[in-house]
Amino acid sequence: MDNSLEKHTCALLIDNEPFSFNVSGSFFKGKPEVLYQSQGNILENTEWESEGFKIISAFSDIEFKLLSNSIKKNILKGIKLAGITVTENDFNIGDYHKYITNQENHLKVINHTKNLRNEDFDLDFEKLALKFSKHTNTKLTPYIKQLQSSHIQIRISRPNSLDINPPHRDGYLDYWKNILNIWIPIAGCNEHSSLPVIEGSHLIPEDQIIRTKAKGAYINGNQYYVPCIIKTTNGPFKMFRPNPKKNEALIFSPFLIHGAAINKNTDVTRIALELRFDKKED
Ligand SMILES: [Fe+2]
Repeated sequence: MDNSLEKHTCALLIDNEPFSFNVSGSFFKGKPEVLYQSQGNILENTEWESEGFKIISAFSDIEFKLLSNSIKKNILKGIKLAGITVTENDFNIGDYHKYITNQENHLKVINHTKNLRNEDFDLDFEKLALKFSKHTNTKLTPYIKQLQSSHIQIRISRPNSLDINPPHRDGYLDYWKNILNIWIPIAGCNEHSSLPVIEGSHLIPEDQIIRTKAKGAYINGNQYYVPCIIKTTNGPFKMFRPNPKKNEALIFSPFLIHGAAINKNTDVTRIALELRFDKKED
């Protein structure tokens, strides 16, 4: 890490409770422009465009079971790659922190779980994307044109840890700016751990946003790919957790500010799945 980087405390409210963490980086404000473009957007003409997010019903119980089994398999594979032996039948994903007890091994596991594809799951995400299309007025696909592949990530957040992304917008990265973000609760997701967002924040102009460049933020010595947004010119963030329930999904604009998904549960690892859907060409 570059020692000349400024050290900041990012302080925010999540459901009215204060939370803060230290972040290093070079922070700046942008131009007086709104990056979110309505025209041609996946959210264009939806009734939830101004909020920037929506909770939808996503799965049947059978589909959810298939999905959580695949997630368990992938986490087990990551644990095996980290060199830890686990008896598959005894393993409950919410107990992850009891097996992975240091940062070094955790980083080895997420090295596997952060970059998965359709083929790593038993659920057909192509079919799921078409099902989600009814909420977006445009056909969706898990195949991301710019990447020429799908991109699926399992998010693992241990209790009392800084296993978080800073508040950010995926849309700052060129290959994510036209996609739809999907966040799916799998285990340990509740009012103490679910993903926080800022309603309507995709419409905040850049001259009110204080952020780093891509790959410009460090938390706990870990470098983050996404630019970190520390605050707006109106002061610290007021975030809230929409908290989708089992079988539901949170869908949102890549310009909606989200992150800081601190897991305040003391005895369960939070597991969530992140999908990204692109517009499907006819
Ligand atoms: Fe994100």
